[in-house]
Amino acid sequence: MSNFGALLSNPSVWVQFPHTVLGGYTAAGFFVLGISAYHLARKTDPEFFKKSMQLSAIFGTAAVLLVMLVGHTQAQHMVRTQPMKMAAAEALWESENPASFSLLTITDQNTGKDLFSIRIPYLLSVLAYNRPSGEVRGMRDLQAEYEETYGAGNYIPSIAVSYWSFRVMIGAGLLMALVGAYVLYIMLKKKQFESMRFLKWIPLVLWLPYFANTAGWMLTEMGRQPWVVVGLLKTADAVSPNLKPGMVLTSLIGFTLLYGILMAADAYLLVKYAKAGPEAGGEPLEEKQTRRPTQDEAYLD
Ligand code: HEM
Repeated sequence: MSNFGALLSNPSVWVQFPHTVLGGYTAAGFFVLGISAYHLARKTDPEFFKKSMQLSAIFGTAAVLLVMLVGHTQAQHMVRTQPMKMAAAEALWESENPASFSLLTITDQNTGKDLFSIRIPYLLSVLAYNRPSGEVRGMRDLQAEYEETYGAGNYIPSIAVSYWSFRVMIGAGLLMALVGAYVLYIMLKKKQFESMRFLKWIPLVLWLPYFANTAGWMLTEMGRQPWVVVGLLKTADAVSPNLKPGMVLTSLIGFTLLYGILMAADAYLLVKYAKAGPEAGGEPLEEKQTRRPTQDEAYLD
């Protein structure tokens, strides 16, 4: 790297960085919320989990609302800096002004034709420019322009991946905001969490930030193809000429195995301690559950 200042003053950093950090806070909030609901549904240590449910609902809801607010700014930035990514994420073949938002589109990337499409007029312009007009460029226009500027090639990323990852991220965000708002409503009404109608389903919410974060990452990386750096460096040119396919495959298998093992260990520990609850903190679980109280402890009891 020759200029660290240029990295910090890159406008993309100031939308991507907060979005990703807030995505992490959202994961923390809704993970704790899910575990708290799990224990409240089983009536284990209600006093403790009532407090953790309250705290995580406040923290998680604030984080998810902020991540969506920053995400909106990021999408507006994307329309200007990576218009092809937005066009693919919206399955938008032709440039439109005002531009419509896709509610559900099934398109055939090979023929360039939609098999099914329901679109909401004006909404994409509103999201892109905060007003009901403004051009959002389509994939056909951009493909023609890029061929002229960068030479022959296919500049359209996988539409299915871009389109669905965008929707999974936004959909998971909206669902978390809804669940967070519901828990806050119960709190403000001073009702018991145990009386909540959907309490036994709320633990499922802890999966949503994982879906949203993974989908966001897929949109960022795969929606940018065929580029590593848009307009400057293609993925095909970024591969080191000294590498052989066998070497890439071996390191890929190695990384997959290593991260797979780490993921399994992480999942095992998370499930173990989340199920055990606060009593498990500090000393080994089995020891605490099976050992008899010492004389001092028995005296204190
Ligand atoms: C209204 C909701 C949301 C909008 C409009 C939005 C918008 C975006 C956009 C446009 C990108 C791609 C940026 C780019 O490639 O330049 C992105 C990436 C991402 N989003 Fe979202 N997002 C939303 C909700 C969420 C939620 C709820 C989470 C997680 C809890 C999340 C986590 C991420 C992550 C981790 C990335 C990848 C960032 C990176 O690799 O730089 N997003 N988001």
